[in-house]
Amino acid sequence: MPLLRPSQKLCLVLFCSLLLTPSLISIASAQSDGKSHAWMNTGFSPDERASMVVKEMTLDEKIQMMHGTGMVGLSPMSPLAVHSNGGAGYVVEIPRLGIPAIQMSDAAYGVRMSGENGRYSTALPSCVAGAASWDLQGGFEYGALIGRELRAQGYNMSLGGGVNLTREPRNGRTFEYMGEDPVLAGKMVASVIRGIQAQHVLGDIKHYALNDQESGRNAVNITIDKRAARESDLLAFEIGIEESDPAGVMCSYNRVYGDYACENKYLLTEVLKKDWNFKGFVLSDWGGAHSVEKASAAGMDHEQPGWIFYGDDLKKAVESGKVPQAELDDHVHRILRAMFATGLMDDPVQRSVPDVLGGLEVARKLEEQSIVLLKNEKSQLPLDAAKVHSIAVIGPHADVGMISGGGSAQVDPPVGNAILPPGKGQTRWLEPVWFPTSPLKSIRAKAAGAKVQFDSGADPSAAAALAKNSDVAIIFAYQWESEGMDLPSLALPEHQDDLIAKVAAANPHTVVVVESGGPVTMPWADKVSAILEAWFAGSSGSDAVANVLFGDVNPSAKLPLTFPRSEADLPHPKVVQPPPESIPNDTQPEVWKQIAAGLAPFQVTYDEGVKVGYKWYDAEKKAVLFPFGHGLSYTTYSYSGLKVTPGKNPKVTFTVKNTGKRDGAEVAQIYAALPAAATEPPKRLVGFNKVWLKAGESKEVTVEVNPKYLSIFNVEQNGWQLLPGEYGLMVGGSSENLPLKQTVTLN
Ligand code: BGC
Repeated sequence: MPLLRPSQKLCLVLFCSLLLTPSLISIASAQSDGKSHAWMNTGFSPDERASMVVKEMTLDEKIQMMHGTGMVGLSPMSPLAVHSNGGAGYVVEIPRLGIPAIQMSDAAYGVRMSGENGRYSTALPSCVAGAASWDLQGGFEYGALIGRELRAQGYNMSLGGGVNLTREPRNGRTFEYMGEDPVLAGKMVASVIRGIQAQHVLGDIKHYALNDQESGRNAVNITIDKRAARESDLLAFEIGIEESDPAGVMCSYNRVYGDYACENKYLLTEVLKKDWNFKGFVLSDWGGAHSVEKASAAGMDHEQPGWIFYGDDLKKAVESGKVPQAELDDHVHRILRAMFATGLMDDPVQRSVPDVLGGLEVARKLEEQSIVLLKNEKSQLPLDAAKVHSIAVIGPHADVGMISGGGSAQVDPPVGNAILPPGKGQTRWLEPVWFPTSPLKSIRAKAAGAKVQFDSGADPSAAAALAKNSDVAIIFAYQWESEGMDLPSLALPEHQDDLIAKVAAANPHTVVVVESGGPVTMPWADKVSAILEAWFAGSSGSDAVANVLFGDVNPSAKLPLTFPRSEADLPHPKVVQPPPESIPNDTQPEVWKQIAAGLAPFQVTYDEGVKVGYKWYDAEKKAVLFPFGHGLSYTTYSYSGLKVTPGKNPKVTFTVKNTGKRDGAEVAQIYAALPAAATEPPKRLVGFNKVWLKAGESKEVTVEVNPKYLSIFNVEQNGWQLLPGEYGLMVGGSSENLPLKQTVTLN
């Protein structure tokens, strides 16, 4: 159910420009140097600076700051939209006060709509791949690249930072998020946002909250036990916000406990602004606003993409006292404070030429850190280029490209969709886009002395025949996903299971490289010799995969989500689908009005509560295909010497040794089992550390555990509570391989 996409937006913006009077154009484009304003003195705090501006603002200026300027299909267009940079959102500047426009662009794994706007941007590996690296410094570099490319294109706000937990792995946006664990997801998203904001670009975290399925997202009402919510989905946001101070929090489309997220006092005021002390501004997801007074009182600070509620209607509500002046001022203050706090006011964006080659290298390195070696029987990998004489490269489009994630996260490939003729590949909503990063070419480059042949796999018997005559068969399997849909199942599409089974039967040296946004089922897992999870691999994906296949890079990533054996093992065997009255009528011209007015709610209850991902499989004692935290290496590691020092922030110390012959990096994971009185699942992740080790090297590692991660959320006391009692601390290389264990008493 796509919500209108703005591929025609630029045309409309151009059309609007013809309607503009010259005076409007000059007013809107005038830039004040701002230096003469008192609030440009950096000696004042962001809050003080914001307060000074608010005092000077007229009511109209304040209202203008409360909303965007429209988007085709989702809200009418303002003539002032002509000054938009072509991104998803634009807030008009106030030259009189030296306040620049806010130019927002989607930027989940790279800057969106660059092709449409005649520009270039790098596609990084998908966000879930970033989480698979478990590398906080890598996360910062991920964000820094996005921030740099946003600036180069003239944007000053990113709409990324997706951190909804993988509660429902068929969610079509799983690739945009950071996996199933709140501590990993929260820390990773924070490092990405810190990287973005370090470029003096406003960061954003989304979609707040519990927007864990796409089906019926504008109507679904989510119910979950409050303690479970605070310890799972909301905890990921809490950590992300406390560790990165993002400028924006995007409230989601769905309802939670009966109220839309964007007019939900519990979520926006009680939890976000009071409990977490969030200082930035809440912006609606695009078309996610539903009211003036209720939304404003609940804590929604800004409406996107238009002004259905926060334009004239808000102005009238302020004039009549229905929305108190102080409430409006708080909304405006939060936006301005964020602009000062991120440095955007002192270092305004200037366009430049992006560093394309640098971007490709960052994308490759991050992907190399993100590819998970799931299985490697008899050390099938790495391949030895000097010894392998023939290789069959098999799989849909593996000769030309690798798949990317769709929707508002979609990055445009520089020369268009690799499976279409050059230049004909404009990206379209809900149409899979293959990036021009060719596995066949990258493998040929590595194995120059070998005969490397390609088969698309369309005829599995022909592919099996080629595999039979080759030393090694490498199958590139894919599962595309996108915003605006959920996956019908976790099985690979296009009969790929059958293809893999046939090829594996023909060649005992069969390697499968999976390109997916999340877990897939693998009925053939026992039959193949090696499996790599490459995710949606980004602009330089095939070179990164080839580097891992041939051992130039030693894999070090670990799963940020569980691969179940079958969908029957999920908490909800089926995704709840909306009834017809909960689906907007896409064919009617004013569908946005229908969404804004509200669609009939339908119910989804997360009765599994806190048991998301591995916590569910652990508690329900269900065996999985590949557990959370799992990932192999071409070397081996040993763990020893666990010491736990109780205290306010308990310290967990241990030694990791690289016991093999290659340099590598091990993601050491720390889990805790809470006292029985807590009635929690058997264990939860409470810390991790990616340790780089030369062959034979060992390092002592100390991780301080945040007491919150050991606590339960006490709803009556509205706070985190560390229960006195015995805690089991476990350390190792995966949630199912924890060789070190110690019990400590905490009180
Ligand atoms: C998506 C957001 C996105 C926005 C702007 C919405 O449909 O849910 O994630 O940032 O559109 O494109």
